[in-house]
Amino acid sequence: MKYIGNKSRLIGFIKESLLDAKINYKNNVVYDLFSGTGSVSEFFLKNNCEVFSCDNMNYAIAEQYRKLFFREEPEFSELKNIIGYEKLDDILEYLNNLEGIKGYFFENFCEEGEYKRKFFSTNNAKKIDAIRSKIEEWKEFLPIEKYMFLVGILMNSADFVSNTAGTYGAYLKIWRSMALKNLKLTKPEFINTGDIKLFVDDVVDFVKKNKKADIVYMDPPYNTRQYPANFSTLESIVVNDNQELKGKTGLRDYEKQKSKFSIKKDVKDEFVKLIDEIKANCIVMSYSTEGILDKDFILEILNNKGKTKMYNTSYRRFKTNAWTDNNTNLKEILFICKVENS
Ligand SMILES: C[S@@+](CC[C@H](N)C(=O)[O-])C[C@H]1O[C@@H](n2cnc3c(N)ncnc32)[C@H](O)[C@@H]1O
Repeated sequence: MKYIGNKSRLIGFIKESLLDAKINYKNNVVYDLFSGTGSVSEFFLKNNCEVFSCDNMNYAIAEQYRKLFFREEPEFSELKNIIGYEKLDDILEYLNNLEGIKGYFFENFCEEGEYKRKFFSTNNAKKIDAIRSKIEEWKEFLPIEKYMFLVGILMNSADFVSNTAGTYGAYLKIWRSMALKNLKLTKPEFINTGDIKLFVDDVVDFVKKNKKADIVYMDPPYNTRQYPANFSTLESIVVNDNQELKGKTGLRDYEKQKSKFSIKKDVKDEFVKLIDEIKANCIVMSYSTEGILDKDFILEILNNKGKTKMYNTSYRRFKTNAWTDNNTNLKEILFICKVENS
């Protein structure tokens, strides 16, 4: 999944920095706060950690149900009496073969729909409608993990054929070739190590409720662009609440999901509050030199908690048509704080 701030290409840097700081990252209890696509959770899972992952967006947690939750292919015995199949391959084929229907996603996200938004081809929007409503029909028979796993697969496959440059703040005027391909649900690869628990929650509320971790990794947004505004369409597919959308691009109401980490006047207080609430032996934090929080401020707050080291690497900026620029000085920073008297 193309995602602003995805750390998949920085895992090597994170690992080397942890090694340099002599932090044991194997077999630990780890919180991944602001977990997004779960790429850092995946790294810790592969190192046999028990991971608690938290993000306040439903599509992010659905993506992690898709690719991280199950250690091996789940079976759907609950559906055997309903559709006659229980193997994942058969379930996906059944869903892939459903006849498209004109529903909410057709009306809101394709050119022939009422709002003429060109996020998906007409065919794909109708398929999203058919598949999403079938998964919803199955909800009462499935454990939540399997339901979210299927929703995550649909969301990820829809993202793959969306007519966007990566975010949903706008759709493209001209069709990109991928968007004209048929949406097809595909099964993920399964990682056979570590256990993950997934939470849709605000990070401050989450850490308040939870016990001490060995490592808390955190990757807050670093600029003022709000994730719910940029991934609204994916959130709609996952939440499936058929809410009335606003404006040319069909934006959800995201007042309650706005992040204080992306609001200049609030970010310092929210950061201090979060750090204050964290109970851990070690805090690891990713940030950018272009972030709205000053790196010296971060260092000062973390140093109050324990001795903190800072690591740097250059990083290519997330690219969409709207966001491309030539800034090559952008540096990704990793703070590693060994908490004292934890
Ligand atoms: C930089 S991205 C994280 C990327 C992630 N590490 C990855 O590799 O994909 C920041 C994430 O923080 C989430 N977020 C922002 N504010 C939040 C909050 N207050 N509580 C929980 N999650 C939040 C956003 O939804 C977004 O997924």
